Amino acid sequence: MFKVNDNFLKLPGSYLFSTIAKKVNAYSKAHPDKTLIRLGIGDVTQPLAPAIIDALHKSVDEMAHAESFHGYAPDLGYEFLRTAIVKNDYTSRGCEISADEIFVSDGAKCDSGNIQELFALDNKIAVCDPVYPVYVDSNVMAGRTGVYDLSTERWSQVIYMPCTKENNFVPEFPKEQPDLIYLCIPNNPTGTTITKAQLQEWVNYANKIGAVIIYDAAYEAYISEEDVPHSIYECEGARTCAIELRSFSKNAGFTGVRLGFTVVPKDLKSGEVSLHDMWARRHGTKYNGAPYIVQRAGEAVYSEAGKAQLKEQVAYYMKNAAAIKSGLTEAGYEVFGGVNAPYIWLKTPEHMTSWDFFDYLLENANVVGTPGSGFGPCGEGYFRLTAFGSHENTKAALKRLKAL
Ligand code: MLT
Repeated sequence: MFKVNDNFLKLPGSYLFSTIAKKVNAYSKAHPDKTLIRLGIGDVTQPLAPAIIDALHKSVDEMAHAESFHGYAPDLGYEFLRTAIVKNDYTSRGCEISADEIFVSDGAKCDSGNIQELFALDNKIAVCDPVYPVYVDSNVMAGRTGVYDLSTERWSQVIYMPCTKENNFVPEFPKEQPDLIYLCIPNNPTGTTITKAQLQEWVNYANKIGAVIIYDAAYEAYISEEDVPHSIYECEGARTCAIELRSFSKNAGFTGVRLGFTVVPKDLKSGEVSLHDMWARRHGTKYNGAPYIVQRAGEAVYSEAGKAQLKEQVAYYMKNAAAIKSGLTEAGYEVFGGVNAPYIWLKTPEHMTSWDFFDYLLENANVVGTPGSGFGPCGEGYFRLTAFGSHENTKAALKRLKAL
């Protein structure tokens, strides 16, 4: 009889957003007369910007003619997209990254789950608590996390860095030494961030102890404050200790289109072994490239028209964030985030756990959010709302929340 990878069996429950979807669908089925407002999963609601739609139409037409048809994409991505990425996301910010250090993919979620394959199983990971569940779950599947303790909701071989209002949601260097450090800035789920000076300390620390930072910058487009870093490569020394993950989902509405990229600098080495070469080998073996039409759409994100349209789209969502933040504050909630990220992180009312509050909002306001404890034990007592709804829905949800 075949044997399964029993690391999968260690995973408690289903993926957070699948659990929520199941609960919400069951409620909807039982109450077909209720109109739910979904501010749970961070999925966008605004249509693709016109510049992106134009690029898609144009490239679809190219595929209709033998002379301009495209088959397999180069496995690391088309040169036109990698060059646009470097120019706009890195060179313009003074970061020293070259086009052959960019690996185009179908999104940051896959990359953030797959990147751990480069590392030995006895490497110890450090994650913020609360945390985007993919970082931990993908390491569980690989067998790197030890034993799960139901009472503490923690894995024996994972180092947790609590991020709560007590430390202003800024992780502290752990007591135990990690090999891999996951940082998501601006942060999902808390919507908070750290300064460039604070990130520089993490880079110095990682270089000193020989750790790799896996830096998820999926929410970079939402940064509004000056001293928040847009890329880890703004920090000195990051080329020898950091991998950066980027997404087109949140800045350009590609959640259903799928495009992202990972930066692995050539200076990032374990002894003589280059992580860049390993990731290139892995990409070449396991991936046949993001579709041509999608990469053309990605290129349009960096066109002058695309940039202007997407700036407006980000502003649209951040208007929601500001409205949720001020509306909930007025209603007496303690609220965090929502300034450099499209997530609002609020304290649940006294005596209500995150899941109690989830049920309470679902049943009494027909509003769906995400319970903080779903992101880790330190998320208990918190709740996440996204700013990715429409203005109308966000306004209606606030009205319902205030009426409770
Ligand atoms: C979230 O809600 O945390 C995000 O949508 C998850 C993701 O980007 O995969």
